[in-house]
Amino acid sequence: MTQIEGKDKYVRNVFNTIAPKYDLMNLLMTWGMLPGWQKFMLQKTGVKSGDMCLDVCCGTGELAIKMSKLVGPEGKVWGLDFSENMLKIAREKVRKQGQENIQFIQGDALALPFKDNTFAAVTNGFALRNVTDIPKVISEMARVVKPGGRVVCLEVSRPKNMIFRLGFNIYFFKLVPLLGRIVDRGKAIDDKYPAYTWLPESLKTFPDQQELKAIFERAGLKDVAYFGLGGGVATVHIGVKPE
Ligand SMILES: C[S@@+](CC[C@H](N)C(=O)[O-])C[C@H]1O[C@@H](n2cnc3c(N)ncnc32)[C@H](O)[C@@H]1O
Repeated sequence: MTQIEGKDKYVRNVFNTIAPKYDLMNLLMTWGMLPGWQKFMLQKTGVKSGDMCLDVCCGTGELAIKMSKLVGPEGKVWGLDFSENMLKIAREKVRKQGQENIQFIQGDALALPFKDNTFAAVTNGFALRNVTDIPKVISEMARVVKPGGRVVCLEVSRPKNMIFRLGFNIYFFKLVPLLGRIVDRGKAIDDKYPAYTWLPESLKTFPDQQELKAIFERAGLKDVAYFGLGGGVATVHIGVKPE
């Protein structure tokens, strides 16, 4: 993998640090709604038995593992991430379950190490906030998906409803960093934000649903649509690569 620096280096250190407690924190922070969101997202990929798929920024592999069950033994799923510690957990899960149709590799979402038009579907869960160049990642995902295949992203979003939004802001910007302080003692990473302060910080400059839809369209994807989940605290975006 190429040398990474700046925000990328910090983000990688964040995930290398929180990897052992990542799955538990994810479930707690989403109040148990995460598996339902992942199921919805995977339905939207249109993935079927025998397909080859890619999960970009796969982390501890939860989504990739679920996708590998949809493609079955005839298909294959690749999971890519730049954090060694997140990948280590993903590989350990697969080893314990004895799955053979899934492979995790270390790599950069900004320069996917795959040929054009390779996958039936390409997914990304909760990672767009973390990358340095969102349009580049979406265009890389669009490049490696086959014509007719789908690019599907799940990300945190801010609810439109004012009351929901107020509750979300208090929860995400005040309580999540507090939860992080209990879990990882709020240790600074690279002299910057502690991990669970970074999480809400990363949403401050993140595009809203309409802006992200426009980024999908500029990447050449068609029929772009989005679906709010959990009252709008998460959103799934979908785009289709033209035939
Ligand atoms: C919030 S986690 C999401 C993990 C997983 N997709 C999920 O749904 O739980 C974000 C992941 O993106 C990875 N990541 C961030 N920027 C990346 C990049 N440029 N290339 C590869 N992985 C990246 C991090 O290492 C981390 O594992």
